[in-house]
Amino acid sequence: MSQMDIGVIGMAVMGSNLALNIADHGFKVAAYNRTASVTKEVITKHPHKNMDGFYNLEDFLASLKSPRKIILMIKAGKPVDMIIEELLPHLSPEDIIIDGGNSFFEDTIRRYDYLKEKNIYYFGVGISGGEKGARLGPSIMPGGSKEAYPHIQPILEAISAHVGSEPCCTYIGDNGAGHYVKMVHNGIEYADMQLITEAYLLLRHIGGFNNQKLSQIFNEWNQGELHSYLIGITADIFAENDEKSGGQIVDKILDSAGQKGTGRWTSIQSLKQGVDISMITAACNTRVVSNLLDERKKASKEIAAPSYNAEIGADFIEEVRKSLYVAKIIAYAQGFSLYRSACHEYNWQLNFAKIASIFRAGCIIQAKFLNKITEAYKKNENLSNLMFDEFFLANINKNQSSLRKIVSLAVNKGIPIPAFSNALQYIDAHRSTQLGANLIQAQRDYFGAHTFRRTDIDGSFHHEWQEHYKK
Ligand SMILES: NC(=O)c1ccc[n+]([C@@H]2O[C@H](COP(=O)([O-])OP(=O)(O)OC[C@H]3O[C@@H](n4cnc5c(N)ncnc54)[C@H](OP(=O)(O)O)[C@@H]3O)[C@@H](O)[C@H]2O)c1
Repeated sequence: MSQMDIGVIGMAVMGSNLALNIADHGFKVAAYNRTASVTKEVITKHPHKNMDGFYNLEDFLASLKSPRKIILMIKAGKPVDMIIEELLPHLSPEDIIIDGGNSFFEDTIRRYDYLKEKNIYYFGVGISGGEKGARLGPSIMPGGSKEAYPHIQPILEAISAHVGSEPCCTYIGDNGAGHYVKMVHNGIEYADMQLITEAYLLLRHIGGFNNQKLSQIFNEWNQGELHSYLIGITADIFAENDEKSGGQIVDKILDSAGQKGTGRWTSIQSLKQGVDISMITAACNTRVVSNLLDERKKASKEIAAPSYNAEIGADFIEEVRKSLYVAKIIAYAQGFSLYRSACHEYNWQLNFAKIASIFRAGCIIQAKFLNKITEAYKKNENLSNLMFDEFFLANINKNQSSLRKIVSLAVNKGIPIPAFSNALQYIDAHRSTQLGANLIQAQRDYFGAHTFRRTDIDGSFHHEWQEHYKK
């Protein structure tokens, strides 16, 4: 009999935890995995009165109430297209497929259009929070048909993280909007992690603090305005001893960072949309450079280090903290500028206040700071840039001198801090009434007759430039 409320395909880490989370909330879950032994293992290890395993697709689909709701928690990319083709012959009009994986939003738009023609609803749902989030409550970003959303809303809201009674799940927009918002969330996560890492480099290599002290500093920071999941886990990491060879494990980890691609996608997208998200791009590039272990070894020997002996003041830790906060404001200003631009590019009506509010729990970038972003967009949903909100503006004005000091110090000491520096560059590029674009336009007009606008007369002009330059 068709009695199950929802089906989950993919019983790897994310899918099995999400299925158990759904079952915990009183919904009957049908579990299926391409390799049947994986389903068997999950059902045996985690028996649940609301969850049954199915070992072929026909039985799985027959078990679901109509309209069928099927969550895909499988490897992103080709496998999603493959499973859709496998499902299609068995589906009925108005059944709902929900892709909860990290799919690229353009693929989601394509699949949404393809399935719409077949009268099947398709949702691209960003799910953030990793394994723990999937099990206990992630932040959820659903994108797809608004008219079909009420069918899945009660389940998604019930299983999401909550702040008080508010679910960290809100309808984001049509077709690929949910996956787009998740992609940029991950980009912001890259910048956030990079900023924390740069603060670590400064505290360690300029401040000379050991891991115990670093853990204490990050713990203290986590009691104040920087309170966030990432600052909290960073404090834990410095305190973690290495059982294999002594000391702290952080010092034994190879200095070479991985990435799965969502940061890079965000960065590529920003170039396509013409939005400056230099901090996210810098964070991606720094991970890329971190992998050049041989080249870095060679350069460290062959390129002389600067000799600069500045005394650091008693307020050094506080200067780093303030810099981190200002730079974090800029990282979010960049990410949310990309969201604003996406509204025009893809005809979405993204609700920035809501987006910030669902990031407050369940996800990796959850932070106290997000309340301030929600407040800023609630006050003014047309805010062109987060920097111009009263609260953030006051903070930038109050603390930018710390950021300038810290960036200068790191530059003189030869410590790479690309995210901090790009935050400062972004501030200065915005506050400069002269960026030299007059000269760029003159050059463009000189060699390509691209024309320019004048400051004193309306219209478009070309100048016949005198060729004094001799090759
Ligand atoms: N939100 C987060 O924090 C977070 C964290 C991790 C992952 N994710 C995303 O969530 C999704 C699931 O992640 P995961 O780590 O649990 O699993 P995964 O390692 O990305 O994928 C493994 C799962 O995909 C299935 N699969 C692969 N190819 C398939 C195909 N052609 N047809 C049907 N099933 C196929 C596998 O089935 P078999 O057992 O048969 O191979 C297995 O169930 C991914 O999109 C991932 O990017 C999100």
